[in-house]
Amino acid sequence: MKTDFLSGFSGIIAENEPLARHTCLRVGGPARWFARPRSVDQIPELVRRCRQEGVEVLPLGLGANLLVSDEGVDALVIRLSDPAFERVDWDERESRQTDEPVSITVHAGADMYRLISDAVRKGLGGLESLAGIPGTVGGLLRMNAGGRFGNICDVVHTVDVVDADGHSRTMNREQAGFRYRGSNLAGTVVCGATLVLKPGDPTQLRARFKEIWELKKKTQPLSDNSAGCVFKNPSGGSAGSLIDQAGLKGRRVGGAVVSPKHANFIVTEVGATAQDVLSLIGIIRREVADRFGVELETEVQFWGCQRARSAEPIV
Ligand code: EPU
Repeated sequence: MKTDFLSGFSGIIAENEPLARHTCLRVGGPARWFARPRSVDQIPELVRRCRQEGVEVLPLGLGANLLVSDEGVDALVIRLSDPAFERVDWDERESRQTDEPVSITVHAGADMYRLISDAVRKGLGGLESLAGIPGTVGGLLRMNAGGRFGNICDVVHTVDVVDADGHSRTMNREQAGFRYRGSNLAGTVVCGATLVLKPGDPTQLRARFKEIWELKKKTQPLSDNSAGCVFKNPSGGSAGSLIDQAGLKGRRVGGAVVSPKHANFIVTEVGATAQDVLSLIGIIRREVADRFGVELETEVQFWGCQRARSAEPIV
C-alpha cells in the first residue's frame, strides 16, 4: 500500500519504524507507519484518513504493557511524544480553599512518574498509590492501571479522546467504562484527561509514595525489561502465586524468562523475540490450567500476534 493517503503529514510520519525500541519488553517488529503528531488538532484528520483507507490506528504510550509480534504491524501507530502532549495544567489559583478538591488537566503523553512526583510535591493526593507504574497518562487510562493501593480511574473526572470515526469527544467516567485492567477507551486515541486530586500534606504524601515504591522494588523486577504483570489476577486469587506454585519461576524460552523475583512478570534478555515471550505465555497458561484448573487471562496487550507461529489462543 502506498503512503499517498497520508499526504500533508510527511513531516510527522516515519515508515517501517522498529517498535522494539518503543516497548519496555524491547522486542517486536516494525510499524508500517509511525506518526508523532505535533498537536492534538492533527489527530482527527489522521484517524479519518486511515479509516477511509482501511488502515488500523494503534495508539502507543511508553509500550509498558505491550507485546508486538516479530512481524510488526501493518497499521499506523500514533505516539504522542511531542512536548505538546506532555503538558500538565495545574490549578495554581491562590484563592483556592485549602481542602477543596483540585482539578488538573493532563495530556496523554505526560510521563506518570513525573506527574506523580509533581503532584506529591504540590501537596495533591490521589496519584501516589500508583507509584512504580511506568507509562504515559494515555496508556494508564486505557488499561485502568493500578494495583492493590488504587487504580487511576479513582481520580478521573473526564477523558478526552478522538474516536474511531475521527471525532473529538469528552467522555465522563461512566462512558469511559473503567474496570479491572480495562476500559471502553480501546479503539480511541486518548488525548488527555481531567483528574481530581485531594489536597494533602506533602510530607505524608511523599512517605506514602516511598512506601509503595519500596514495596514494589522489593517484590517486582522493576529494572528488567518487562511488560509488567502478564496475566490478570483470577477472581479471588493471584496469578503470580499460582505461577510460582507451579514451579515456573526461572522457566525460559530463548531470551524470555519467568522472573525469579515475581512469577507474573516475563523479563526479556538481549536477543529475545516476541515469539519467545508468546511461547512462554503458552507454557504458563497450560501448566497453571493443568495443575490448578485455572485459565489465566492475559493483561498484556498484543499487537499483530494473530499471525505468530504456535501462539496459544489468547484470551
Ligand atoms: N506471590 C507469590 N509469588 C510470586 C508473586 C506473588 O507467591 O512470584 C504472592 C505474594 O506473596 C502475594 C500474592 O501472590 O501473597 C499477590 O502478589 P503481589 O502482592 O505481588 O500482588 P499481585 O496481585 O501479583 C498486583 C497487580 C500489580 C501491582 C501489585 C501491587 C495485577 C495482575 N497485578 O500484583 O500490577 O503492582 O498488585 O499493587 O493486578 C500490573 O498490573 O502490571 C502490575 C504489576
